[in-house]
Amino acid sequence: MKILVIHGPNLDLLGKREKDIYGEDTIETINAEIRKAAEESSTDVEFFQSNHEGDIVDKVGSTESDGILINPAAYTHTSVAIRDAMSAREIPSVEVHLSNIYAREEFRHKSLIAPVVTGQISGFGKKSYIYGLKALIELING
Ligand code: DQA
Repeated sequence: MKILVIHGPNLDLLGKREKDIYGEDTIETINAEIRKAAEESSTDVEFFQSNHEGDIVDKVGSTESDGILINPAAYTHTSVAIRDAMSAREIPSVEVHLSNIYAREEFRHKSLIAPVVTGQISGFGKKSYIYGLKALIELING
């Protein structure tokens, strides 16, 4: 089983960016924790981070993974293109957010991605990725 993990814009800055909201961990340490949790379930993971909407669309469109774990970051709230790319793929997918997007500014309360993924996990810091991964593995295993 292989899972694609997509990190959207500015998540390459984790550990430096708004630490009070997003925590101290870098994307590398979060990825290492995701990889460890995946290995415990004999699952392969591929990581992809981009600040560019079209690159994320291309990646979603071309992946041969069994599931997608995605933090679309700011594109959550704006991207019809990423939504359509996710909707076109009939593979299980989970949207995750470090922060609780519903407890923040109003413009973050709407996710264009949420209606086309299997489910969403928001507000558990880096654990959102681990919970999302576990949900995805269970979904794929049926
Ligand atoms: C985020 C929440 C988004 O609103 C924000 O634009 C991000 C990160 C999160 O993980 O909490 O960049 O997706």
